[in-house]
Amino acid sequence: MQKSVIYITRKIPRTLVEPYEDTYEFRMWDKADEPVPRDVLVTEAKNADGLLCLLSEKIDADFLDQVPNLKIVANMAVGFDNIDVNEAKKRGIVVTNTPDVLTETTADLTFALLMATARRITEASDYIKQDQWNHWSPFMLAGSDIHHKTIGIVGMGRIGEAVARRAKGFGMKVKYYNRSRKPNAEQELDATYLAFDELLETADFVVSLVPLTAESKQIFNKEAFEKMKRSAIFINASRGGVVDEAALIQALENKEITAAGLDVFEKEPISADHPLMKLENAVCLPHIGSASTATREDMISLCFKNIAAVLTGDEPLTPVN
Ligand code: DGY
Repeated sequence: MQKSVIYITRKIPRTLVEPYEDTYEFRMWDKADEPVPRDVLVTEAKNADGLLCLLSEKIDADFLDQVPNLKIVANMAVGFDNIDVNEAKKRGIVVTNTPDVLTETTADLTFALLMATARRITEASDYIKQDQWNHWSPFMLAGSDIHHKTIGIVGMGRIGEAVARRAKGFGMKVKYYNRSRKPNAEQELDATYLAFDELLETADFVVSLVPLTAESKQIFNKEAFEKMKRSAIFINASRGGVVDEAALIQALENKEITAAGLDVFEKEPISADHPLMKLENAVCLPHIGSASTATREDMISLCFKNIAAVLTGDEPLTPVN
């Protein structure tokens, strides 16, 4: 019998594919650090039954129209704003994501980014690299305290709760805004629900972990930054699209807020000449929220489990549609 074909949009270690090689034929884009060109993706996906893709691939109606054999799109990310889920559903194509396996790793990175921004860690490291450390002085590279401050989490999903647990360890007060109240988080983490505006006005750290949807698009806009305290630090580890980047740059330049720590951007990747990279009060990372080796392997493995389930007629483990 002919094997079902699975196309993987980036080069991944062969060892991760091996357990499934008897059952499936794997085809793979041969570069680890470069996205597959759209035309190659379409050509390959035309013959594929399953697709393992990354958040950099746009899976829209135009793509889905050209891939009649495809039964599942397994996105190697928890966010799936790169996929038109309704269009996939119309065509009977299952879409899956990778929740849970990346929760703690992404929360680690979010909290690390918060700390790096507040205590100016990258700037301080560069200070020595640029040979500027000639003396010790009272306010040299002085930043903001983290302990006992108020963290305002926008998007209290699994990662939001995991960040709140870390914040509790630092004696922080946890406030949150979410589409729906989270009674468990309120009880277990002593988290206080606030309206969005109230959270912006009162938090020392405003942390975005909200998925990008039509409702959350650019919720962090000029008005939102104006509402924040001048001492506020804004952290974004969800999606760049939830921020009006021009408004953020203006708020940072004019010191309307103190600093921002960003793992995600409106248009990725950004380069060294991006305006945010020119700002001392912005810490920018190349979207590495879930980037630990173990977690990336777990994410790939979950994608394979989802693909195998769908191709054998079982329910996927983590469907989004
Ligand atoms: C996700 O899974 O959505 C993350 O952004 C990847 O790091």
